[in-house]
Amino acid sequence: MHALDKYSALIEQEIGSIDFPVSPANLYDPLRYFMTLGGKRMRPILTLMGTELFGSDRAEAVHAAVAVEVFHNFTLIHDDIMDEAPLRRNKETVHTKWNQNIAILSGDVLFVKAYQLLAMQRGEHLPALLDIFNRTAIEVCEGQQMDMDFESRNDVSIPEYVEMIRLKTSVLLGCALEMGAIIANASKEDRHLLYEFGQHIGIAFQIQDDILDLYADPDKFGKQVGGDVISNKKTLLNLKAMELANGEQKSQLERLSTERDAVMKVAHTKKIYSEIGAKESCEAEMQEHYNFAMQALTQIPLPEENKKPLIALADYLMVRNS
Ligand code: IPE
Ligand code: IPE
Ligand code: MG
Ligand code: MG
Ligand code: MG
Repeated sequence: MHALDKYSALIEQEIGSIDFPVSPANLYDPLRYFMTLGGKRMRPILTLMGTELFGSDRAEAVHAAVAVEVFHNFTLIHDDIMDEAPLRRNKETVHTKWNQNIAILSGDVLFVKAYQLLAMQRGEHLPALLDIFNRTAIEVCEGQQMDMDFESRNDVSIPEYVEMIRLKTSVLLGCALEMGAIIANASKEDRHLLYEFGQHIGIAFQIQDDILDLYADPDKFGKQVGGDVISNKKTLLNLKAMELANGEQKSQLERLSTERDAVMKVAHTKKIYSEIGAKESCEAEMQEHYNFAMQALTQIPLPEENKKPLIALADYLMVRNS
């Protein structure tokens, strides 16, 4: 998206200046590989926008912004091991290209690297930045564990699911934004409202991710399509389908959860979901969270003009295809 170029340029420049050593190659090559695969860079852009929203220069937040992106990339490397994912950003995942042990350890380095970057922010802001960053990092792990635990449960409720995605995904968007606000010396109330905006955009974003996982164009998505169905993830699609299914559809879906043929499993599941209208029901829920997000943003007492970039980014995220 053209309007994001000025933010992306700053982020890519900062990421490009991270100097990973040459040796041991099996520790650092995967990091050079992964960090240059691209990705939307949405979280660091949110940090820069969070700073700009309150009238400060976006460049002031660049280290914190990249710290969030580096942390995100660490979670992706480990998430791909946990989800047994073969593809990420249209390329092989780190554990597929190298191996699982290498993916664990290089991911760990990236986690520490995030703190090194964050420590480059101005001292007066560091205690507040560390406070939210630490809390968020632990919450993301909590959400990831819930996500894994839910694979083998069949009684997950929609509120439990929303809490799981809030933790694994949304808190990091809220954190990215609030860190930007901290750097701009925003008030506690405004910081809180911006965090709320991020939470709801994050929930909508993860619902969209769940939908794309089954319905995306494989050439554009960059990840394996159908991966969530194959591993029996409790996505909103799955929960809505089970909620709305008739008796016959429900038992078909239950049988499919033990189907070994992955291609057949994905195709049949998708067919039943479409009979039920699961996707439309998820889209409605996504829209609700988008609306909650906008309500929070409206309450921040700043000119509409300041909020335009954030609204444009949120709108883009709702219609993305990767
Ligand atoms: C993927 O995040 C993980 C989720 C929380 C769904 P993104 O879709 O932001 O991944 P990249 O960074 O753009 O590749
Ligand atoms: C990932 O959720 C959330 C993280 C904290 C990494 P997913 O497992 O749905 O993310 P993708 O689809 O692999 O990007
Ligand atoms: Mg996962
Ligand atoms: Mg995954
Ligand atoms: Mg996903």
